[in-house]
Amino acid sequence: MDAKDVTQTRLRIIPQTSRTLWPARCTLIYRRKWLAAITDYEQFGMTNLSVSNDKLGRITTLIPIDRQAQKPLYQQIYEGFRARIIQRELRPGQIVPSTRQLARELGVSRFPVLNAYAQLLAEGYFLGRIGSGTFIAPSLPGEPPRPSRKSVVHTEMGRRTIATTASVLPKYASPSWNERLGPFQVGQPDLEQFPLKTWSKLVARYSRNIRVNELQYGDAMGAEALRRAIAVYLRTSRAVQCEADQIMIVSGSQQALDITTRVLLDPGAEAWIEEPAYWLVRHVLKIAGCCAVSVPVDTEGLDVLAGIELSPKARAAFVAPSHQYPLGVTMSATRRLQLLDWAQNAGAWIIEDDYDSEYRYESPPISCLQGLDTNSRVIYIGTFSKVLFPSLRLGYIVIPPDLLERFAAVRQSMDLCPSPTNQAVLTEFIKGGHFARHIRKMRQIYGERRRVLVKEIRREFGSTCTIVGGEAGMHLTLLSNGGIEDREIAAKAAARKLWLSALSLSYVGEAPRQGFVLGFGNTRVSEIPKAVRLLKELLNA
Ligand SMILES: Cc1ncc(COP(=O)(O)O)c(C=O)c1O
Repeated sequence: MDAKDVTQTRLRIIPQTSRTLWPARCTLIYRRKWLAAITDYEQFGMTNLSVSNDKLGRITTLIPIDRQAQKPLYQQIYEGFRARIIQRELRPGQIVPSTRQLARELGVSRFPVLNAYAQLLAEGYFLGRIGSGTFIAPSLPGEPPRPSRKSVVHTEMGRRTIATTASVLPKYASPSWNERLGPFQVGQPDLEQFPLKTWSKLVARYSRNIRVNELQYGDAMGAEALRRAIAVYLRTSRAVQCEADQIMIVSGSQQALDITTRVLLDPGAEAWIEEPAYWLVRHVLKIAGCCAVSVPVDTEGLDVLAGIELSPKARAAFVAPSHQYPLGVTMSATRRLQLLDWAQNAGAWIIEDDYDSEYRYESPPISCLQGLDTNSRVIYIGTFSKVLFPSLRLGYIVIPPDLLERFAAVRQSMDLCPSPTNQAVLTEFIKGGHFARHIRKMRQIYGERRRVLVKEIRREFGSTCTIVGGEAGMHLTLLSNGGIEDREIAAKAAARKLWLSALSLSYVGEAPRQGFVLGFGNTRVSEIPKAVRLLKELLNA
């Protein structure tokens, strides 16, 4: 399979099964039908103006409209077409449905469709031909520019070929975390609250007493004392079924995802990934040459039935069931059991990313998916980046016993073993009770920040925005109910030191939901009212 194919999201037609799904799900379905229709066009020759309207009737449902939205229907239809022409999903010369047909398909009167078409004709996106119908203007640019494959670069030094899997990753931009500290930054714990003095003392004590044999290479699984401490913590607080020898210490959940993918998935293998999802999960799959199948997330978490329809033979599902990123949804009990059943029947794996669920505010902590698993299908991943500090670079994988030896072999071939210093200090930090104390303290602090943030949002925005996913973790998501361009607003906000994370960036499908992921971990209570007012000002501008 071509490297480009395997790294792109697979798109297939699925029937519209559920009425309870969010618009994101619908847009995915639209997108698939749309692309299926376009494939048909290509078979007929897309620029053939005499192509039969019957054949093209299917595409008419692909203009998403929302009757609850304040935006007039004609404008939604106009924008729907315009967006698809700009994105070159509709190509020059392609016939569009008659106004009567589109109105019927959309279940609206003909007036908004006539108005939308009139505007598209006036602006030159459409061209009318008497007796032939209406077409996408042939003068518009055709094929989208193909992203340049930079795996082979010719320079004065000759041909310099790199792996295509590496070349498909987006350009690396040096992160500027410290410059971006401030209201709403996502994924950021309040580092001012970290007991740095205690930590420093433990570092100093370790350094004074370091023994020569600790300078040697260690176990690929990590330091035994730390693995024991983590096992106790996970069994007690997260209901993980594990013994210390199942735990591998890694440099954060990112490395955990990488090692897990290398052990479980061959290049070209399909894997379910949440839509929307944490962007760096996608990168892991891209580098591995796997095929990420985007499965919609709704109010109950990953839609397992949609996943089965999209990719029944997927080898793995990557999920964050405790607090999905970015929507913050907690996966329902029904979906958890469906997912476990699917994995067992399909012989697939579930990779559970439990990155920030130490903090739950309105209900007692819920047990993890791994705790429900009776068939050792779940690989459980956790991190100390959120609960302590990100530069610690320590996380862990809980590995099913029969896979332990393979995980250790793969990890050894990557970086031999984790560095001992931070492992030793963290072990003492946990054993001394500082870890549990820090979690208790931060739960109070973050809980208060979240409470104030929710109150301020409700006061400033009323029903124009919806809050989702604030029950746990350090972020909540604000869904816009009106037409906004979240990326544009986030760029304007950054100029005023308000760090909004645009929700649409977490989607790969068409027409992503617009909104903002608001981190409250590092936003002090006193800063929140002003930050929410600034957000409102930017939205109203
Ligand atoms: C969904 C998700 N998983 C994992 C992580 C943490 O990664 P790491 O443990 O490598 O620091 C983050 C950090 O932002 C995240 O948002």
